[in-house]
Amino acid sequence: MLSTRGLSRAALRAPHAPQSWRSMAGRAPPPHVRTATHPYAQRKQRRFARSVVAVTALWATATALQWVVNGNSIMRQVHAEEPPHQEAEPEFKFEAPRRRAKSADENRALISSQHLQVVKSWENPGVYAWGSNAGRAVAPDSDEKYIKTPRRIPYFDGQLLRDIKLDKNFGAAIDERGDLLQWGVAFSKDVTEPTKTLRGQNLTSLAISRDRIVALSSGGTVYSIPVSQSEQNDGPKPKSTSWIPFWGASNNISYRTRTPENLGWSERVTDISSGLEHALMLTSSGRVFSFASGTQDFPSKGQLGIPGLSWENRPAGAFDIPHEITTLKGFPVKKIATGDYHSIVCDSEGRAFTFGDNTAGQLGFPFNAEATSVDAPSLLPTQRLYAGSAAQARVTNVFAGGNTSFLTVDATKADQSRTTADTWAFGFGLTGQLGVGRWIHTCADPIKVPAFSGLFEWDEARHVPIPIRLSTISVGSTHAAAVMDNVASVMVSGRTSKLTDNDTNWGRDILFWGNNEFYQIGSGKRSNVATPTYIQPLDQTAEQERAANAAGVKALREREMHRFQITPRQKVKVNGRNVEFEQKVECGRGCTAVYSAV
Ligand SMILES: *[C@@H]1O[C@H](CO)[C@@H](O)[C@H](O)[C@H]1NC(C)=O
Ligand SMILES: *[C@@H]1O[C@H](CO)[C@@H](O)[C@H](O)[C@H]1NC(C)=O
Ligand SMILES: *[C@@H]1O[C@H](CO)[C@@H](O)[C@H](O)[C@H]1NC(C)=O
Ligand SMILES: *[C@@H]1O[C@H](CO)[C@@H](O)[C@H](O)[C@H]1NC(C)=O
Repeated sequence: MLSTRGLSRAALRAPHAPQSWRSMAGRAPPPHVRTATHPYAQRKQRRFARSVVAVTALWATATALQWVVNGNSIMRQVHAEEPPHQEAEPEFKFEAPRRRAKSADENRALISSQHLQVVKSWENPGVYAWGSNAGRAVAPDSDEKYIKTPRRIPYFDGQLLRDIKLDKNFGAAIDERGDLLQWGVAFSKDVTEPTKTLRGQNLTSLAISRDRIVALSSGGTVYSIPVSQSEQNDGPKPKSTSWIPFWGASNNISYRTRTPENLGWSERVTDISSGLEHALMLTSSGRVFSFASGTQDFPSKGQLGIPGLSWENRPAGAFDIPHEITTLKGFPVKKIATGDYHSIVCDSEGRAFTFGDNTAGQLGFPFNAEATSVDAPSLLPTQRLYAGSAAQARVTNVFAGGNTSFLTVDATKADQSRTTADTWAFGFGLTGQLGVGRWIHTCADPIKVPAFSGLFEWDEARHVPIPIRLSTISVGSTHAAAVMDNVASVMVSGRTSKLTDNDTNWGRDILFWGNNEFYQIGSGKRSNVATPTYIQPLDQTAEQERAANAAGVKALREREMHRFQITPRQKVKVNGRNVEFEQKVECGRGCTAVYSAV
């Protein structure tokens, strides 16, 4: 790590968290990790608290660091203390940052991959997908079982999308007009390219259960649509309730609207999320509703958040009518997330609540063999994670997928002098999906994810270190990707032919981890990944051309480590019109997509 001083942003990790874990593990594993691997063991809360204190103490030896912005290039100077164990390799390396160029040629080489990726993403919007293709979800026109490295879905070339979601057996997307597109064997065995199904509803986002698609329209209407084309054709078709005569609208497929009734004046649904059997809806007033979003099984693990609700005692009417989660009244909810069988929400005060299946500790509560699920939203004692540090913890976002959960937390010192942004993981982690560098079967005590905790960058304007937060985590059933909210620069529009300009664009860091049995990480290898890692740039053809162009400055080129960076939101010209869009990542069930999102 020291040898890469000044170049490796791993060094920016102020508290040397991974090293401290490792050094502790050398003697005895950190107590709360140990208890996590022995979920049935009787735990003493005191011991857990002590371990957090120990880790926090290591943190206190934090490092001073600085990024110096220098014209168009950035030099990051890092003054790091020696990590406790020098032989410890950094868990992952950040690419050497851009440096001041000495010559145009050198500059061209340095501008490099990152600039090229941004520009290419603007020139060729579309969808890259990889992972399991058993259900023709990532390469609808191919019979290959796996797509081992990012590959474009030709149908989407040049297209901007509002959303995309992938299951192993089907895919669904919303195009720029708000129409639903579907493909994959669970939609239809005969279809080899995305096909329009629900049109004219101005859809904006979607979620998928085991066998249905939940979609939200711009106006706040929630639709529940069968995945299967034959069910769409044969099932009952609603009369259009919309009085707006959409051009080209055709409601000739079977679907149901699940918008909650009795919403307040000007209150509407603003977000949706779905597990395999249940979905959550968030309204603009911070209320949360849930409903059964699958047709195979009624949610029976408490994931609806309605105490006592079961198939037997459900209210009269459709099995999938929405229920308000009234126990959350008084906690205006800001974010919602769902795993396969559990739910997690956080409110505007930074409190997090979980409910549903807890067999893997995905609720963040100790496993209890007598009660493997919790059917009422339960407040997570997140402040306990910071016991002894005198920091005030606020949950800023929640993420979930499969049987795994993540929280991002802002921990602010009592005197407000400093805020640290941390990411915590809990639940099932046997194939690395917790991202903490370990394979943990059941983890009910949240573990800090070292790669996304305690990172800082230098704020030029205010001359203070500011925390680097996560922009998002996309959690698939067994793998995940995180996009860092680090400094990104996409000021330079233009074509690749202008690569000699000093100005460069670069995107955001994106890291992947977890299960890789279907090549869903995108590394081209099949081994599972327990520590967040980079993958190669998506457009390998462009990379090779660039490498050939930069052949004159070979030494520099070799020093550069190429990695996929994701392009942040920016207004650019696409096919002669100005549109604002960005690249987004979507981890699905055994597969991954990166798309150009409006
Ligand atoms: C359709 O959705 C877009 C995006 O949310 C919105 O800007 C537009 O006003 C909507 N159009 C109609 C007719 O509601
Ligand atoms: C619905 O209408 C579209 C065109 O408006 C047509 O292509 C499609 O086959 C129709 N589907 C059904 C189930 O009738
Ligand atoms: C999640 O847990 C359920 C049991 O509650 C299990 O059946 C399922 O296979 C698990 N899924 C994943 C993705 O680990
Ligand atoms: C590029 O940078 C060099 C050195 O900093 C400067 O001399 C040159 O004018 C710059 N070129 C452009 C096009 O800005």
